[in-house]
Amino acid sequence: RGRIAILISGRGSNMVAFLEACEQGRLAADICLVASNRPDAAGLARAAAAGVPTACVDHRDYPEREAFDAALVRCVQQQEPDLVILAGFMRILTPVFITPFSGRLLNIHPSLLPKYPGLHTHQRAIDAGDSEAGATVHFVTPELDGGPPVLQARLPMLPGDTADSLAARIIAIEHVIYPLAARWFLQGRLILNKQGAFLDGQKIPPSGIE
Ligand code: GAR
Repeated sequence: RGRIAILISGRGSNMVAFLEACEQGRLAADICLVASNRPDAAGLARAAAAGVPTACVDHRDYPEREAFDAALVRCVQQQEPDLVILAGFMRILTPVFITPFSGRLLNIHPSLLPKYPGLHTHQRAIDAGDSEAGATVHFVTPELDGGPPVLQARLPMLPGDTADSLAARIIAIEHVIYPLAARWFLQGRLILNKQGAFLDGQKIPPSGIE
Protein backbone atom coordinates (compact mmCIF):
# COMPACT_ATOMS: atom_id res chain seq x y z
CA ARG A 1 0.00 0.00 0.00
CA GLY A 2 1.23 3.45 -0.86
CA ARG A 3 1.59 6.18 1.70
CA ILE A 4 0.00 9.56 0.95
CA ALA A 5 0.61 12.80 2.84
CA ILE A 6 -2.03 15.49 2.32
CA LEU A 7 -1.47 19.20 2.84
CA ILE A 8 -4.50 21.39 3.49
CA SER A 9 -5.33 24.91 4.60
CA GLY A 10 -9.07 24.76 5.10
CA ARG A 11 -12.16 22.63 4.83
CA GLY A 12 -10.42 19.57 3.45
CA SER A 13 -13.21 18.09 1.36
CA ASN A 14 -10.66 16.69 -1.11
CA MET A 15 -8.82 15.16 1.84
CA VAL A 16 -12.09 13.52 2.95
CA ALA A 17 -12.56 12.22 -0.61
CA PHE A 18 -9.16 10.52 -0.27
CA LEU A 19 -10.08 9.01 3.10
CA GLU A 20 -13.27 7.63 1.59
CA ALA A 21 -11.49 6.29 -1.50
CA CYS A 22 -9.06 4.43 0.79
CA GLU A 23 -11.82 3.11 3.06
CA GLN A 24 -13.87 1.90 0.11
CA GLY A 25 -10.91 0.19 -1.53
CA ARG A 26 -10.85 2.44 -4.59
CA LEU A 27 -7.38 3.59 -3.58
CA ALA A 28 -4.88 1.10 -2.15
CA ALA A 29 -3.19 3.61 0.11
CA ASP A 30 -2.83 4.79 3.65
CA ILE A 31 -3.12 8.46 4.48
CA CYS A 32 0.01 8.76 6.62
CA LEU A 33 -0.36 12.46 7.42
CA VAL A 34 -2.72 15.39 7.08
CA ALA A 35 -0.79 18.59 7.70
CA SER A 36 -1.95 22.20 7.65
CA ASN A 37 -0.33 25.60 7.76
CA ARG A 38 -3.30 26.83 9.79
CA PRO A 39 -4.11 25.39 13.21
CA ASP A 40 -7.81 26.21 12.73
CA ALA A 41 -8.19 24.35 9.41
CA ALA A 42 -11.48 22.46 9.70
CA GLY A 43 -9.98 19.54 7.82
CA LEU A 44 -7.47 18.86 10.62
CA ALA A 45 -10.25 17.98 13.05
CA ARG A 46 -11.96 15.82 10.45
CA ALA A 47 -8.71 13.92 9.80
CA ALA A 48 -8.03 13.47 13.51
CA ALA A 49 -11.57 12.17 14.01
CA ALA A 50 -10.87 9.60 11.29
CA GLY A 51 -7.77 8.45 13.19
CA VAL A 52 -5.25 9.92 10.74
CA PRO A 53 -2.00 11.46 12.07
CA THR A 54 -2.24 15.25 11.85
CA ALA A 55 0.25 18.07 12.17
CA CYS A 56 0.29 21.82 11.92
CA VAL A 57 3.24 23.90 10.78
CA ASP A 58 1.91 27.39 11.41
CA HIS A 59 3.25 29.74 8.76
CA ARG A 60 2.95 32.66 11.20
CA ASP A 61 5.82 31.14 13.19
CA TYR A 62 8.15 31.58 10.21
CA PRO A 63 8.89 35.06 8.92
CA GLU A 64 10.71 33.63 5.89
CA ARG A 65 8.93 31.47 3.33
CA GLU A 66 12.02 29.24 3.00
CA ALA A 67 12.17 28.56 6.76
CA PHE A 68 8.49 27.60 6.74
CA ASP A 69 9.06 25.32 3.76
CA ALA A 70 12.05 23.65 5.45
CA ALA A 71 9.96 22.98 8.58
CA LEU A 72 7.19 21.55 6.40
CA VAL A 73 9.68 19.27 4.62
CA ARG A 74 10.85 17.88 7.98
CA CYS A 75 7.27 17.35 9.11
CA VAL A 76 6.25 15.51 5.93
CA GLN A 77 9.44 13.47 5.57
CA GLN A 78 8.97 11.99 9.04
CA GLN A 79 6.03 10.04 7.64
CA GLU A 80 7.96 8.79 4.58
CA PRO A 81 5.18 9.32 2.03
CA ASP A 82 5.33 7.91 -1.49
CA LEU A 83 3.11 10.74 -2.71
CA VAL A 84 2.41 14.21 -1.36
CA ILE A 85 -0.76 15.95 -2.44
CA LEU A 86 -1.79 19.57 -2.04
CA ALA A 87 -5.52 19.71 -1.38
CA GLY A 88 -6.60 23.31 -0.92
CA PHE A 89 -3.18 24.20 0.43
CA MET A 90 -3.14 27.96 0.05
CA ARG A 91 0.52 28.85 0.63
CA ILE A 92 2.89 29.40 -2.26
CA LEU A 93 5.69 26.85 -1.91
CA THR A 94 9.32 27.54 -2.79
CA PRO A 95 11.83 25.06 -4.23
CA VAL A 96 12.90 24.35 -0.63
CA PHE A 97 9.71 22.29 -0.33
CA ILE A 98 9.12 21.38 -3.96
CA THR A 99 12.57 19.98 -4.79
CA PRO A 100 12.71 17.20 -2.15
CA PHE A 101 9.30 15.95 -3.33
CA SER A 102 9.83 16.58 -7.02
CA GLY A 103 8.02 14.03 -9.17
CA ARG A 104 5.80 12.89 -6.31
CA LEU A 105 3.99 16.14 -5.53
CA LEU A 106 0.52 16.78 -7.01
CA ASN A 107 -1.91 19.69 -6.76
CA ILE A 108 -5.50 20.21 -7.77
CA HIS A 109 -6.58 23.56 -9.09
CA PRO A 110 -10.19 24.65 -9.72
CA SER A 111 -9.81 25.84 -13.30
CA LEU A 112 -8.99 24.55 -16.75
CA LEU A 113 -5.29 25.32 -16.50
CA PRO A 114 -3.46 27.10 -18.05
CA LYS A 115 -6.49 29.38 -17.61
CA TYR A 116 -6.78 31.18 -14.28
CA PRO A 117 -3.82 30.22 -12.12
CA GLY A 118 -3.97 31.77 -8.64
CA LEU A 119 -7.11 32.82 -6.79
CA HIS A 120 -10.79 33.57 -7.57
CA THR A 121 -10.82 31.09 -10.45
CA HIS A 122 -14.60 30.59 -10.52
CA GLN A 123 -15.44 34.30 -10.63
CA ARG A 124 -12.81 34.90 -13.28
CA ALA A 125 -14.28 32.16 -15.49
CA ILE A 126 -17.77 33.70 -15.09
CA ASP A 127 -16.53 37.25 -15.74
CA ALA A 128 -14.77 36.07 -18.90
CA GLY A 129 -18.05 34.62 -20.21
CA ASP A 130 -16.49 31.16 -20.59
CA SER A 131 -18.81 28.40 -21.77
CA GLU A 132 -17.07 25.78 -19.63
CA ALA A 133 -15.06 25.44 -16.47
CA GLY A 134 -13.43 22.63 -14.56
CA ALA A 135 -10.50 21.39 -12.50
CA THR A 136 -6.98 20.23 -13.22
CA VAL A 137 -4.68 17.82 -11.37
CA HIS A 138 -1.05 18.63 -12.11
CA PHE A 139 2.46 17.88 -10.96
CA VAL A 140 3.87 20.69 -8.86
CA THR A 141 6.90 22.59 -10.10
CA PRO A 142 8.21 25.93 -8.82
CA GLU A 143 6.00 27.78 -11.33
CA LEU A 144 2.70 28.61 -9.57
CA ASP A 145 -0.08 26.34 -10.89
CA GLY A 146 2.22 25.77 -13.87
CA GLY A 147 3.50 22.19 -13.56
CA PRO A 148 2.59 19.52 -16.13
CA PRO A 149 -1.14 18.71 -16.12
CA VAL A 150 -2.20 15.11 -15.48
CA LEU A 151 -5.97 15.04 -15.56
CA GLN A 152 -8.56 17.67 -16.43
CA ALA A 153 -12.32 17.51 -16.02
CA ARG A 154 -14.59 20.05 -17.66
CA LEU A 155 -18.22 20.91 -17.20
CA PRO A 156 -20.57 23.40 -18.84
CA MET A 157 -21.39 26.76 -17.32
CA LEU A 158 -25.07 27.07 -16.52
CA PRO A 159 -27.22 30.18 -16.93
CA GLY A 160 -27.19 32.15 -13.70
CA ASP A 161 -24.07 30.44 -12.37
CA THR A 162 -22.43 32.24 -9.47
CA ALA A 163 -18.94 31.61 -8.13
CA ASP A 164 -20.54 29.52 -5.38
CA SER A 165 -22.79 27.43 -7.62
CA LEU A 166 -19.90 26.78 -9.99
CA ALA A 167 -17.53 25.92 -7.14
CA ALA A 168 -20.05 23.40 -5.80
CA ARG A 169 -20.18 21.55 -9.13
CA ILE A 170 -16.42 21.72 -9.63
CA ILE A 171 -15.56 20.43 -6.16
CA ALA A 172 -17.67 17.33 -6.84
CA ILE A 173 -15.58 16.47 -9.88
CA GLU A 174 -12.37 17.27 -7.99
CA HIS A 175 -13.33 14.53 -5.55
CA VAL A 176 -13.43 12.06 -8.45
CA ILE A 177 -10.38 13.01 -10.49
CA TYR A 178 -7.90 13.62 -7.67
CA PRO A 179 -8.01 10.13 -6.10
CA LEU A 180 -7.90 8.68 -9.63
CA ALA A 181 -4.66 10.52 -10.43
CA ALA A 182 -3.20 9.38 -7.09
CA ARG A 183 -4.16 5.81 -7.92
CA TRP A 184 -2.36 5.98 -11.26
CA PHE A 185 0.69 7.37 -9.49
CA LEU A 186 0.81 4.68 -6.81
CA GLN A 187 0.34 2.00 -9.47
CA GLY A 188 3.50 3.33 -11.13
CA ARG A 189 1.55 4.28 -14.24
CA LEU A 190 1.96 8.05 -13.83
CA ILE A 191 5.45 9.52 -13.81
CA LEU A 192 7.14 12.88 -14.24
CA ASN A 193 10.55 13.11 -15.88
CA LYS A 194 12.54 15.77 -17.72
CA GLN A 195 10.39 15.25 -20.83
CA GLY A 196 7.14 15.85 -18.92
CA ALA A 197 4.30 13.80 -17.45
CA PHE A 198 3.63 10.29 -18.76
CA LEU A 199 0.77 7.83 -18.25
CA ASP A 200 1.47 4.21 -19.21
CA GLY A 201 4.54 5.39 -21.12
CA GLN A 202 2.54 7.86 -23.24
CA LYS A 203 3.21 11.56 -22.97
CA ILE A 204 0.24 13.33 -21.41
CA PRO A 205 -1.13 16.12 -23.67
CA PRO A 206 -0.51 19.74 -22.60
CA SER A 207 -3.94 20.23 -21.02
CA GLY A 208 -3.95 16.84 -19.29
CA ILE A 209 -6.01 13.73 -19.90
CA GLU A 210 -9.68 14.66 -20.27
C1 GAR B 1 -10.50 23.17 -3.96
O1 GAR B 1 -11.47 23.67 -4.86
C2 GAR B 1 -9.13 23.21 -4.59
O2 GAR B 1 -9.15 22.94 -5.96
C3 GAR B 1 -8.74 24.63 -4.33
O3 GAR B 1 -9.19 24.91 -3.04
C4 GAR B 1 -10.34 24.09 -2.77
C5 GAR B 1 -10.08 23.35 -1.48
O4 GAR B 1 -11.25 22.69 -1.05
N1 GAR B 1 -7.34 24.82 -4.45
C6 GAR B 1 -6.76 25.94 -4.89
O5 GAR B 1 -7.38 26.92 -5.19
C7 GAR B 1 -5.26 25.88 -4.96
N2 GAR B 1 -4.74 27.07 -5.56
P1 GAR B 1 -11.16 21.58 0.09
O6 GAR B 1 -10.35 22.17 1.24
O7 GAR B 1 -12.57 21.34 0.47
O8 GAR B 1 -10.50 20.37 -0.50
